[in-house]
Amino acid sequence: MRILVIGSGGREHALVWKLRQNPEHAVFVAPGNGGTAGVAQNVPIAVDAITELVDFARREKMDLAVPGPELPLTLGIADAMKRAGIPCFGPDAYCARLEGSKRFAKEIMAEAGVPTAACAAFTDIAAAKDHVRKQGAPLVIKADGLAAGKGVVVARSLAEALAALDEMMEKKVHGAAANTVLIEECLQGEEVSFLCLCDGKDVLPLPSAQDHKAVFDGDSGPNTGGMGAYSPAPLLPDHHLERMADLVVRPVAAVMAGRGHPFVGVLYAGLMMTADGPKVLEYNVRFGDPECQPLLMRLESDLAQLMLACVEGRISRAELVYRRSTALGVVLCARGYPGAYPKGMEISGLEELGNDGAVKDAGVVVFHSGTVQKAGKIFSSGGRVLCVAALGDGLAAAQRNAYAGLEKIRMADGFYRRDIGAKGITFLQSE
Ligand code: AMP
Ligand code: GLY
Repeated sequence: MRILVIGSGGREHALVWKLRQNPEHAVFVAPGNGGTAGVAQNVPIAVDAITELVDFARREKMDLAVPGPELPLTLGIADAMKRAGIPCFGPDAYCARLEGSKRFAKEIMAEAGVPTAACAAFTDIAAAKDHVRKQGAPLVIKADGLAAGKGVVVARSLAEALAALDEMMEKKVHGAAANTVLIEECLQGEEVSFLCLCDGKDVLPLPSAQDHKAVFDGDSGPNTGGMGAYSPAPLLPDHHLERMADLVVRPVAAVMAGRGHPFVGVLYAGLMMTADGPKVLEYNVRFGDPECQPLLMRLESDLAQLMLACVEGRISRAELVYRRSTALGVVLCARGYPGAYPKGMEISGLEELGNDGAVKDAGVVVFHSGTVQKAGKIFSSGGRVLCVAALGDGLAAAQRNAYAGLEKIRMADGFYRRDIGAKGITFLQSE
């Protein structure tokens, strides 16, 4: 197959790395990064240049398009590819609103009967502030639209909640994304990422994963795109996956199909495991980054065949085989992230890790996020730079292997969390 992956992050490196394990696939990636350049052909087209991406896919006779991030999906890339006759593994723009509008997601959850936090939506700042004062802290304030993962404030005090409303609704720090603001009940518990492959009718759950959103150890500091992840998450073992799909994914797939927009692609439920049971924090309409990296390290089946089965409506007959071992990835960032950070640092030590695409147990794979390749060398170009991932026989072994790999890599002004996996290990010890 000829496959076009769209995106430039660690998730996309993992996607092309996995797709390329079948040597029969020719893989292109737009625009890609310094890591994807080594396993696929980078094509200099931006993720939001929908017309150019479709033209390229048509001209180069792609058999499958795989958008990685949410932006092209909300801009309608799946609709445009479909019009051009190119199979696309991703939802149409209508379904992508599940991620693109938190208010829309709440409406669908209410219709589907999915458990989620109580919530009210506001377009008027005075009404929003009244509501906040009546409810009292803690509360969660969310911009309705896409805000690069920065549109959520978990306000521990009334002052923080009011300040967040000022930032979003008056200063417009997220622009039009916060024209509508949601004020949500603050849930307590551990978070789990639950991703399913969807073909419009049927849903096939993937193993669970756990992200680490806060920038510093012990889940302190501001939220990021994700500082590390592992799969499986002990909080959501394999024998609960089908039940979880029945609770939070199949009802949503049924509502979307009923509205004439069957959901095709990955539907990712961000869950909070509360004392009252699991509740959905958000939906994403794509693989998570960095969850995708450990998830795909564990996957043994041919990913392109699974994606095609989704596009062709036959995922119920597809076989999903994954390794029993645990995979864990740690993200190396540039100092300052998620705020301002330096770029252009040279990264060395990568060659020692023998990144040949083969995965052996205890093997380490380095997935690139914000990197560029120049004259055979790799330089940083983003806040999240690399995700060093490893397999292991259990969470503690995967953690040891990933950190051992990370120690071989050198980059000035880099930092990473030292405790990826620690909470899961504590949970396992408490069982
Ligand atoms: P979201 O983008 O909606 O997943 O929110 C980002 C992060 O904010 C989540 O991963 C949670 O850590 C936190 N969060 C979102 N909604 C809530 C909520 N209702 N209660 C507690 N924490 C939340
Ligand atoms: N890692 C969380 C996300 O991709 O949204």
